[in-house]
Amino acid sequence: MRQHVNPLSSNFNQIERIPSLIEMFGDSKLNLHLDIGCAAGEFLFDLALVNTSWNYLGIEIRERLVKNAKLKVVEREIKNLYFIFGNASNILNDVQSKFIFKNIKSISFNFPDPWFKKRHYKRRVIQPEFIKFLANSLQKGALIFIKTDVKDLFDYMDYTISRNFYFKTIDKTDFNYSESFNPYEVKTNREKYVINNQLNIFERIYIKI
Ligand SMILES: C[S@@+](CC[C@H](N)C(=O)[O-])C[C@H]1O[C@@H](n2cnc3c(N)ncnc32)[C@H](O)[C@@H]1O
Repeated sequence: MRQHVNPLSSNFNQIERIPSLIEMFGDSKLNLHLDIGCAAGEFLFDLALVNTSWNYLGIEIRERLVKNAKLKVVEREIKNLYFIFGNASNILNDVQSKFIFKNIKSISFNFPDPWFKKRHYKRRVIQPEFIKFLANSLQKGALIFIKTDVKDLFDYMDYTISRNFYFKTIDKTDFNYSESFNPYEVKTNREKYVINNQLNIFERIYIKI
């Protein structure tokens, strides 16, 4: 069991320089998907290789993982993948990140840290203020995907997003993955573990209206 990183620590108040989309990607005009809490980025490497018509951006709070992922991107000369280190909420709220929202078509929160104790709920990545910020920043039609194996965390995330007037739930059975950021329904590392261990997965998709 790894120790969760406390995102509210003052270590994350300072954020790194956010490069322009032209610096991040070979073709900055492609649709952009953002994965929040991407860990070592394996999910995004898989996606970027099979689906070169999208750009993928991962944000992760564990610095070593981001350093290694960035090195791998350079070594493999992948042009549609970029990683940023830090607390996702601080990074996206920063004025430097404003331009990113013009291109973001979707965001995923895959198996976020659950922070089981009530006094630690404020460390969960999805917070009402963050969702309000996303509602004000995302373009109409942008999608949010949430997935977890922790029912209590799912209920909390679903409540926090659904109570924001600007996000409407999409029925998964009506959703066409082939046109999404994940046309081949690639699985994250945690998702593979959960499937192998026959645990439940709770997921939902929201659209910004
Ligand atoms: C349980 S892991 C899931 C990793 C991956 N998404 C998956 O499905 O396999 C959650 C990840 O989110 C990262 N994380 C937690 N809070 C974060 C935050 N506020 N900003 C960015 N990353 C965060 C953690 O460090 C960890 O790598």
